[in-house]
Amino acid sequence: PVDQRVDDLLGRMTLPEKVGQMLQLDARGDVKEIVSEKLAGSILHTSPAKMLEAIDLVAKTRLQIPLLTAEDCIHGHSFWPGATIFPTQLGMAASWDAGLLERVARTTAVEVAATGIHWTFSPVLCITRDLRWGRVDETFGEDPFLIGEFGSAMIRGYQGGGLSDPTAILATAKHFAGYSETQGGRDASEADISRRKLRSWFLPPFERVAKEGCRVFMLGYQSMDGVPITANKWLLNDVLKEEWGFTGTLVTDWDNVGRMVWEQKVCADYAEAAAVAVKAGNDLVMVTPGFFEGAQEAVERGLLAEEEIDEAVRRILRLKFELGLFENPRAPSPSLIETVIGSPEHAELNLEVARRSLVLLKNDGVLPLSTEKFRRVAVIGPNADNVSAQLGDWAGDSGQVDWLPDGHPRELTETVLDGFKAVAPTGWVIEYARGAEIERLVADPEGDTYPDGQPRPPISQGAPVDHHMIDVARDKAIRSDYAVVVVGDTVNLTGEHKSTATLELLGGQIALLDAIAATKTPMIVVLVNSKPSVLPPSALNAAAIIQAFNPGMRGGRAIAELVLGLIDPTGRLPLSVARHVGQQPVYYNTIRGQHGSRYADLTQDPLFAFGEGLSYTTITYGDLTVTTPSVNSTETVRATVTLTNSGTRPALETVQVYISDLVTSVTWAGRELKAYRQVSVPPGEQVTVDLELPAADCSLVTADGHRVVEPGDFELLVGPNSRERDLLRAPFTIT
Ligand code: IFM
Repeated sequence: PVDQRVDDLLGRMTLPEKVGQMLQLDARGDVKEIVSEKLAGSILHTSPAKMLEAIDLVAKTRLQIPLLTAEDCIHGHSFWPGATIFPTQLGMAASWDAGLLERVARTTAVEVAATGIHWTFSPVLCITRDLRWGRVDETFGEDPFLIGEFGSAMIRGYQGGGLSDPTAILATAKHFAGYSETQGGRDASEADISRRKLRSWFLPPFERVAKEGCRVFMLGYQSMDGVPITANKWLLNDVLKEEWGFTGTLVTDWDNVGRMVWEQKVCADYAEAAAVAVKAGNDLVMVTPGFFEGAQEAVERGLLAEEEIDEAVRRILRLKFELGLFENPRAPSPSLIETVIGSPEHAELNLEVARRSLVLLKNDGVLPLSTEKFRRVAVIGPNADNVSAQLGDWAGDSGQVDWLPDGHPRELTETVLDGFKAVAPTGWVIEYARGAEIERLVADPEGDTYPDGQPRPPISQGAPVDHHMIDVARDKAIRSDYAVVVVGDTVNLTGEHKSTATLELLGGQIALLDAIAATKTPMIVVLVNSKPSVLPPSALNAAAIIQAFNPGMRGGRAIAELVLGLIDPTGRLPLSVARHVGQQPVYYNTIRGQHGSRYADLTQDPLFAFGEGLSYTTITYGDLTVTTPSVNSTETVRATVTLTNSGTRPALETVQVYISDLVTSVTWAGRELKAYRQVSVPPGEQVTVDLELPAADCSLVTADGHRVVEPGDFELLVGPNSRERDLLRAPFTIT
């Protein structure tokens, strides 16, 4: 029946109405023009008032086709005051818990759907390669297998019981594909990437979710081998639709079609660009208003057949029918908003996720702080009481949406300072000093002047060191038993167009860390940053280091709980942490045989490895046994390993299972994650863990681009992180 309804409606549509359906326009503009003149089928970045205005205007159009409303709700409902903001995708990935991510996405869907939005541009399935890239925080890290696991879980959560479920929202797998293979970390540069490399690392998460029923894919911005992604028929048609059987809808990124004219200059005008984009398989065209006239002109000039437009419109209408929008356009529901936005249950889940996202990277024994004696703690640093740094990008605070100028109500976010005040034992003294500023604000991240008209320095936008601020902080540290120093970056140093040339802590932060280290008060460094920073010696020598990423609204409380031992650290790094910016890119699954795999002046060994993270106890791995030493490629490799907790605290251990294909027809990664299990190990106990992975996953991509399992000898590598020295090994064979 959906197909019949689509055909019936399509048969009654004029060419301008069809082209209008393909347009997704920015609702911060003139809604009357968008709906009544451009006949747009979709809007994004809308406010409740604009949404209601748009619904009214649609009711006055000839065919009254409901609008599809979309938003970037990528770690919670970014654009609704008081909605739940979870840790960023990178932070959540540190939980290594797909089930938890599914619950986050379900919760987000419930909040988003209540506000009348049908569609989120999440999850991001890009692989982190170069940490200088501004969008590392939006990824699940560097490993294709983990990205597939977490992306798939979030899509299940968003899409709930199916699209007609009123609490379901459309998910988007983005950015298809290769967008994160930057040059020098710069956003949306030409990606120097072969089809084999795409198939090896960048495509697998997308292939998985396409086959699992993700209904929308969003394109990246970049070009590859001279072809803008928007024009890439091989990727969009041959691979995605024909090879993987994707029947969903494609949306471009922001003005991708226009960019082919004004930026990439591969099309002379909008008619040409419209023809190229439609022929390549694009459906919804994000924020290219000129597509409306361009596509019609393309048909008039014979560059495009109306039937080609029909195919795209068919896919868009199908989505609208499946969402049930013709029966229920899903306007914002005041009563639902009242009950679900930021509800106590959602806040509780948010705290759980924040707790699970913290990664303890170093601990000389100072943590957990002993709570037996009365203590004085100095909570110091520019991110110790900083709401926007804690929430991260896409949280309504970074100016993406002008109707939410002040972001989320301050009192809904528990900063690290708030957290210590809330959970420290009675009688403890918690002192605070900001100590340093991080940045000088830039009005336009790509511009050359500061808002006050001063020229922007060519090498950094860090704030000057403020010695008075440092002195105040140092005095408080001297008076205290412990100094918790919270440093990192800001939302102005992360996001689209906001890649960074350096990874060092900017502004007065290094001077602040040096000054606090010199006091000899035990220092616990907490990193509230969008992506791993390069740390100065004073931070590296600190008593403890906690990597918190942007931990969301409840993150400050979770951090205080961890420091005080009210919870145990369980997070594991979903990406490698560099010692120096010159190590970029640094990731664990590098191709074997790099003769020059270190610099003369710098090791290529990361500071902290993919998968690394400590607990408050000691877990030892032993007795790795492969119970299926020989399997064929359709069978499952099974093994057991024994974990012993010799400490006094419980552990939730993430057992990581890597494989190494010993001899390969092409050069290939030395080890790849293929499975993991999270296992509770009570203090003093031993647990035997069953592990399994399908032999079909032990594949590689051949020189001519085919993914195959090459029979032969393999090794199973099992342990607490990706470092070779920490992994137990056992052989197996695939026949
Ligand atoms: O969804 C985003 C995308 O990730 C980057 N460009 C803008 C889109 C819409 O806001």
